[in-house]
Amino acid sequence: MSHEILTALGLGESQSGTYLGNGEWSTTTDAGTLRPVNPATGEVIASVHASSKADYETIVERAQAAFKIWRTTPAPRRGEAIRLCGEALRRHKDALGSLVALEMGKIKPEGDGEVQEMIDIADFAVGQSRMLYGYTMHSERPGHRMYEQWHPLGLVGIISAFNFPVAVWSWNAFLAAVCGDICIWKPSPKTPLSAVATMRICNEALRAGGFPDIFFLFNDAGTELSQAFVDDTRIPLISFTGSTRVGRLVGERVARRMGRSLLELGGNNAIIVDQSADLKLAIPAIVFGAVGTAGQRCTTTRRLIVHESIIDEVTDRLVAAYKQVETKIGDPTLPTTLMGPLNSPEAVQGYLQAIEKAKAAGGTVRTGGAALTDRKGNFVLPTIITGLENSDEVVQTETFAPILYVMPFKTLDEAIELQNGVPQGLSSAIFTQNLKAAEQYLSAAGSDCGIANVNIGTSGAEIGGAFGGEKETGGGRESGSDAWKAYMRRQTNTINYSDALPLAQGIKFTV
Ligand code: UN1
Repeated sequence: MSHEILTALGLGESQSGTYLGNGEWSTTTDAGTLRPVNPATGEVIASVHASSKADYETIVERAQAAFKIWRTTPAPRRGEAIRLCGEALRRHKDALGSLVALEMGKIKPEGDGEVQEMIDIADFAVGQSRMLYGYTMHSERPGHRMYEQWHPLGLVGIISAFNFPVAVWSWNAFLAAVCGDICIWKPSPKTPLSAVATMRICNEALRAGGFPDIFFLFNDAGTELSQAFVDDTRIPLISFTGSTRVGRLVGERVARRMGRSLLELGGNNAIIVDQSADLKLAIPAIVFGAVGTAGQRCTTTRRLIVHESIIDEVTDRLVAAYKQVETKIGDPTLPTTLMGPLNSPEAVQGYLQAIEKAKAAGGTVRTGGAALTDRKGNFVLPTIITGLENSDEVVQTETFAPILYVMPFKTLDEAIELQNGVPQGLSSAIFTQNLKAAEQYLSAAGSDCGIANVNIGTSGAEIGGAFGGEKETGGGRESGSDAWKAYMRRQTNTINYSDALPLAQGIKFTV
């Protein structure tokens, strides 16, 4: 099975992890090897040779040379390049979706969905390439015109996480490319094959279309190259997706060199269910939000805040739904599976430790609470825990696993306070049929998150909106709306077409 998936994408059992440009993959074999593991079986899928310092230097030099051409290539022409990438991804959707499922462990429909997200942002970026709008302003001086324009920024470094091994790259790379930038990608060491396959698909399409190299790839067997990447003053923007702990280090280092960072870090997303909620909508939304991708999305529902009058009913219905999910845990590449494994044995340890902490703090495991030790792979049971306080350390912490903490509330004010009472601020939702409650929740005194939804869950955002969050989530915005501006530099221009030289603010200065 794994052999077929690799072959369909032109990948071998031993693979270079470095795209150097000019259609060349590095021949380096002595800079360490990554061995991505199928999380459903524990077996190594293939080996990927990591990049050397010399490979990295070649990439940055070639990227700098490519930028000189790309920055003056008309933006709609740059859009055409991304249109070709989108078309190529359409052709490879099934195979790439399967590889994502195999290597990351998410179920096949979610793997395909991730590739669809790439196709969607490609389409979006093609349109955006004709809409890199700036304002024009009315000058206070006669015979003067003012406007602003957006210029390409330069090299964009993209560091992506294992849980969305391809889509997060494309949100950054496709927008950055139409903005005139050149992208260098450092994927998660857990999912290098998905990155290699994506690079092959996109770069072959670009070469066939006569476009220069705009996407480069390196893999790091340790952390040395990644640190050099973050510190590299030739790279004005580093976009990082991952944990708050590592994101903080990245943000500090990039700030020290006056670079820009775009941070997409942890979430601790809550759904509020009030007494008017339509449970026919709320229950499946909570299950998908909490159990989907085995709880390994940054947008996963981790806390459920339910009106005290319906908390027993909601919990019972969720427990029943979780028991159904339990019967469909298994190989993520099979069509009948609803929940795959966690990505690594360390993630299973994290899950078990969180459950221990929750019990020690007085929590009750209502369902789940154990790893599946009767089989190979990193399988765990989806878990619901009641009886904890929002302020308990384990509830305040993002554990990247399917654990849902259920807590009661009395008033909407209290529910919003609980929801906002965590260090993270990514996604949030309320289920209500009460217009006043919905509007209060969306008001300036409501949810403090980057994403706030009504009657849909916390995960599965569309690409058309800006994606990202506040507080320890890092403040970055990617994907839709005007997120493209992060990949450009703004220039304000004032043009004097008169024969005089009036000064702004009415200053007189005559010699
Ligand atoms: C992530 O988990 O890093 O909103 C990204 C969602 C997806 C993206 C998640 N569109 O769940």
